[in-house]
Parts: sequence; C-alpha cells; structure tokens
Amino acid sequence: MEQPAILAEGLEKRFGDVAAVVGVDLAVPEGTVLGLLGPNGAGKTTIVRMLTTILKPSAGKGTILGFDVATQSDEVRERIGLAGQYAAVDDNLTGRENLIMVGRLTHQPRGGIVARAGELLERFGIADAGDRPAKTYSGGMRRRLDLAAALVHRPRVLFLDEPTTGLDPAGRLELWTVIEELVADGATLLLTTQYLEEADRLADRIVVIDHGGVIAQGTASELKRELGNTIVEVVLADPSDLDAAKSLLGEVGPTDLGDDRRSVQVKVLDSGPAVLDVVRRLDEAGLAPTSLKVREPSLDDVFLSLTGHSATDDEET
Ligand SMILES: Nc1ncnc2c1ncn2[C@@H]1O[C@H](COP(=O)(O)OP(=O)(O)OP(=O)(O)O)[C@@H](O)[C@H]1O
Ligand SMILES: [Mg+2]
Repeated sequence: MEQPAILAEGLEKRFGDVAAVVGVDLAVPEGTVLGLLGPNGAGKTTIVRMLTTILKPSAGKGTILGFDVATQSDEVRERIGLAGQYAAVDDNLTGRENLIMVGRLTHQPRGGIVARAGELLERFGIADAGDRPAKTYSGGMRRRLDLAAALVHRPRVLFLDEPTTGLDPAGRLELWTVIEELVADGATLLLTTQYLEEADRLADRIVVIDHGGVIAQGTASELKRELGNTIVEVVLADPSDLDAAKSLLGEVGPTDLGDDRRSVQVKVLDSGPAVLDVVRRLDEAGLAPTSLKVREPSLDDVFLSLTGHSATDDEET
C-alpha cells in the first residue's frame, strides 16, 4: 500500500498533568482532505502542532510523506504549510511584503519570490490590497493572506487549523471556495474545525475527537448513516387527522408529533423507499398531506449522539 501523506500512530501529548492528546491514529492518503472535528479543548491544535514539528510528542509517532516529525523536522518543514488558528501575519507589512518575507525565510530562489507573491495575491483575491499594510485588512482578507503565506514554498501537505473560525458566513464561503481550489490542485489537507458543515463540505474523511482521543471516524455520509436519522415530516391539512396519521406512520418508523401540533415526524433509515412508503400509506388512508419534508441527518445530530453535547456548545460560553 502507498504510504499516507500524513500518518500518526499512537500520538500523545501531556502537559504536566493534562493529557491533551491520548493515543491518536490518523492516516491521510495523498491528495485527500481529512477533517479533524472537535469542540474547544479537544486537542486539535495540539495534534497539528505535533505533526508540524512545533511540539514534540510525549509518545507515539508522526510522519509526513514518510519523514518523522520528531527526528527529521527539516525534511518535514520543507514539505508542509501551516495556516494556524491565530494568523501569523505581520500587521505592519503589506500583504505583498508578508509573502516576500515568507519566501526569504523558506529559502525560495531569489529571482522567483516577487513573482510568486504577486501570483498568490491574485489567486486569493487580495491583489488590489496587496500594497496596503495588513492591519487594514478585514478578517477574511487576513485569513486569505495567512493561507497564501502557507503556500509560498509550494508545500505538498497543508495543515489548516480552524481556517474559518471568526469569519462571517460570506467570508467563510469565500475561504471554502479557495480551499476547494487547492484540493482540486491535488494538495493533501488536514483541516481542523468545530463546524460540522465545514467538515461535511470540505473533508473526504472525518475524524471526530473529544478529550484528546478519537471517538468516531468515517466519511460524512457514513457517520450520518451510522449515527444520524433521516426525518420525514408530514404536515396535514386537518389537524384532527394527526393522531390517525401518527399511528399509521408508526408502522414505518418511530413517530413524533411536531411542536406546532400540525405535523407528524417519522424517523426512517433510508429516505428514498421510506418516503414512498409514507406517501402511499397516507394516500390509502385518505389523509392528505399539505407538505412533506425530508430532513437528512446532519453531522450535528451525529456529534450530539456521540458526545451528548453539540460541537459548538462551548463556543458561546
Ligand atoms: N502549552 C500548554 N500547556 C498546558 N496545557 C495545554 C497547552 N496547550 C494545550 N493545552 C491543553 O490541552 C488541551 C487541548 O488543547 P488544544 O488547544 O489542542 O485544543 P483545541 O481542540 O485546539 O481547542 P480549540 O478549538 O479551542 O482551539 C486543552 O485542555 C488545553 O488547555
Ligand atoms: Mg485549537
């Protein structure tokens, strides 16, 4: 088997008494995206720091394209890019100067650095602001500059630690598009996030972590299939038909009355045939639905059923 671009085996990190990461295994094949999903304090940044040679693991092993993160850190650093949770942009430099500085620090060929900076500014839609100090940039522009800085030396493996946290929905969408382009170009990506929607949209595989350990993994649809439920919601024209509909649909799956007391909700396993079944039974019983909605399971449902709390719960506190 081809060796994974990113590999972790029994990775652990203790800070004194705090076990921040406990025995994490990861394998990210080249050209794919792994979403590391978990709430505040789950250990996401600590895992990224170990895999990017910033922190030494307390135990276990990590390799990037076959190079050991603990003993071959130079080889690893040449091949990775990191856009951290806290953007590493120098506020007083312009966007262009920031990128040129990174080019020098990463020992890029002298002649190509200015052109590379210009190309990245274009690509990330910040060319117009390229000669303004970064402190005048919006949050979304800073994130894009930070991402551009991680790409100056053309790394094959990219780590993005909560790339869209703190951005508004429009800024998040913009950044998702940029990340999707990188992936289309063949980058291998490890992305941490607290946003289920983000993992769902960007990641090929998702590893869910909580309290430093892996609690579930799979594709978004595998996780949803295993742990979520598709809900078919039927709104009836006549509320007095509700109880009849509820007992009728009880033969399809577990039912609930909607909060509005006008609808019946049925939990089903596979939406296609189950929806037909629901419609057929209502029709046969002469119960006319005014609307029918199918809600696919969300990763939020999955997270809730795994941990007993929502992924973004602690964010508000
Ligand atoms: N340098 C450190 N010293 C002591 N404890 C630390 C250190 N760095 C992290 N921790 C602890 O390790 C645990 C995991 O932290 P980490 O930053 O990896 O979580 P995270 O998943 O990135 O959270 P967030 O979503 O808030 O960024 C937390 O309990 C944190 O307090
Ligand atoms: Mg973090």
